[in-house]
Amino acid sequence: MSGETTDTIRKKKIFSAVKPTGSPTIGSYAGALKNWIAMQDAYDCVYCVADLHSITVSLEPAVFRKNTLEMLAMYLALGINPEKCVLFLQSHVSAHAELAWVLNCYTQFGEASRMTQFKEKSKRNPENVNVGLFDYPVLMAADILLYQAETVPVGEDQKQHVELARNIAQRFNNRYSPTFVLPEPVMPKYGAKIYGLQNPTAKMSKSEENPNDCVYLADGADEIMRKFKAAVTDSDSAVKYDKTNKPGISNLLTVYSVFSGESIDKAEKEFEGKGYADFKKRVGEAVIEFLKPVQAEYKKLLADKNYLQSVMKSGAERAARIARRTLSKVYRKVGFVPLEQ
Ligand code: TYM
Repeated sequence: MSGETTDTIRKKKIFSAVKPTGSPTIGSYAGALKNWIAMQDAYDCVYCVADLHSITVSLEPAVFRKNTLEMLAMYLALGINPEKCVLFLQSHVSAHAELAWVLNCYTQFGEASRMTQFKEKSKRNPENVNVGLFDYPVLMAADILLYQAETVPVGEDQKQHVELARNIAQRFNNRYSPTFVLPEPVMPKYGAKIYGLQNPTAKMSKSEENPNDCVYLADGADEIMRKFKAAVTDSDSAVKYDKTNKPGISNLLTVYSVFSGESIDKAEKEFEGKGYADFKKRVGEAVIEFLKPVQAEYKKLLADKNYLQSVMKSGAERAARIARRTLSKVYRKVGFVPLEQ
């Protein structure tokens, strides 16, 4: 026993973020946001709208501003509580960009080149393979390491980036002395990778071109139902979880489980003997039911610009204080001459 009382037991630290490149999807909710909300009470959480990460693709400024505020409003509407956690916009805390530069010098070109997302995104969009896209995982490492986060709740596609952050932290600690906590990714049992409704073997993504592939948290009820009804399945008729042979049905079962709270086993029993059409309709209904109160709150929050400003302001102040502590430590260890106060 360490002799700690319950009052002094330190809560574990968490950091995570979503980039507001587009509107948040049911994939972001299943892979990350659902866990963020569940972890708010037991952990010391820092959650961020990763707007600096968004500009690796070219965005219309007005659209980008709107997406960013919508992302913040959606976090709040889903139940992220700014009284319980630190909630802020990444561009409001300059330490993220500053630490990223330092960490660039402790990241090998080869290891950054091995990042799957970089390889996939540069192949998909060959006319804009900018240095930011390449450097993006290092900025992500800075995000995590600034807050000394032990746990990073993410979907499967971000696991490799969190592992890179851990390697960079370890390298820095070995070169100087222990400075950063080594972070670990945490993923949900179901929903760590939600697949597209039109292409159930590829990740559902906000950058997908086919509008029926992706369901957004802000989509209207009719739109959600239409997308689920049109979901690609197989020619069989059994609602069974089998990722290899029935990727479409397995994906829908996962979505159903995430939004209804029912286990996949129970859902399989519920739909035994029922056809795909009934099943798809129930999946759509479960998502719509879950989102109804969320969307009502979201609309209210979006109309209350003063409240959003107050959340951003207090979040940025709190985040900057924590981040500055880590950045000062890093600057001192690297050998930058401090400016005496
Ligand atoms: P982003 O914005 O692409 O996705 C946000 C989070 O949602 C998860 N996710 C999914 N999970 C399951 N199925 C899907 N189809 C799906 N699509 C997205 C992602 O895994 C992620 O957890 N670079 C990050 C944002 C970021 C970040 C960070 C994350 C910036 N700094 C520091 C963690 C820690 C990103 O682009 O995620």
